[in-house]
Amino acid sequence: MKYEIRFMSRRDIKQVLEIENESYPDAATENDFLSCMEQGDCHGIVAESKRDLLGYCLFEKLKQETHIISFAVRYEARRNTIGRQMIDRLKSTAPHVGRGRISIEVPEDNLQGQQFFRSQGFAAIKILRDYYDIDPGADAYLMQYEVRVATATPVNRIKTTTRG
Ligand SMILES: CC(C)(COP(=O)(O)OP(=O)(O)OC[C@H]1O[C@@H](n2cnc3c(N)ncnc32)[C@H](O)[C@@H]1OP(=O)(O)O)[C@@H](O)C(=O)NCCC(=O)NCCS
Repeated sequence: MKYEIRFMSRRDIKQVLEIENESYPDAATENDFLSCMEQGDCHGIVAESKRDLLGYCLFEKLKQETHIISFAVRYEARRNTIGRQMIDRLKSTAPHVGRGRISIEVPEDNLQGQQFFRSQGFAAIKILRDYYDIDPGADAYLMQYEVRVATATPVNRIKTTTRG
């Protein structure tokens, strides 16, 4: 399956909502997306194949953290590495590459979502009790990925060499 990953624009909202609606029982509305995208720190990426959107990720860039607000892949396009490619894109543009975090809240009963994020190096670091206003009593896991870049740290050979 051939697709490209690019930044989301307002023109994409119609198809993004289609994916959102088939992925979440408590789907966000067009207004939710638009008002989020009007904020300076809120961005989106989409996976597109011949003008058809196959997936999207809405996220906010905080000082030391990229926080995922919504993330889904079109039902019939799942298990084609589209989710992974979108996460890879976030990892490569995470703030302060080499430090920083990527985070997302995943409902406790969304086992597939948890398995996906675990497969991408995320760990559940906290349980958020009664997290969802629209679903009282439902908990979420805060899942986090620590951005680390393998850098060759120069060794100070003068300090590590014993003189004398
Ligand atoms: C979670 C989701 C985004 C995954 O997207 P995807 O494009 O299908 O994921 P990928 O093909 O990149 O999968 C990468 C790896 O994640 C894991 N994974 C993905 N979907 C999985 C599932 N349903 N069950 C178990 N593991 C899964 C696997 O390890 C997979 O590797 P593999 O296919 O080689 O086994 C997609 O299933 C989805 O949109 N779900 C509904 C919305 C949602 O749950 N959003 C995230 C949490 S709020």
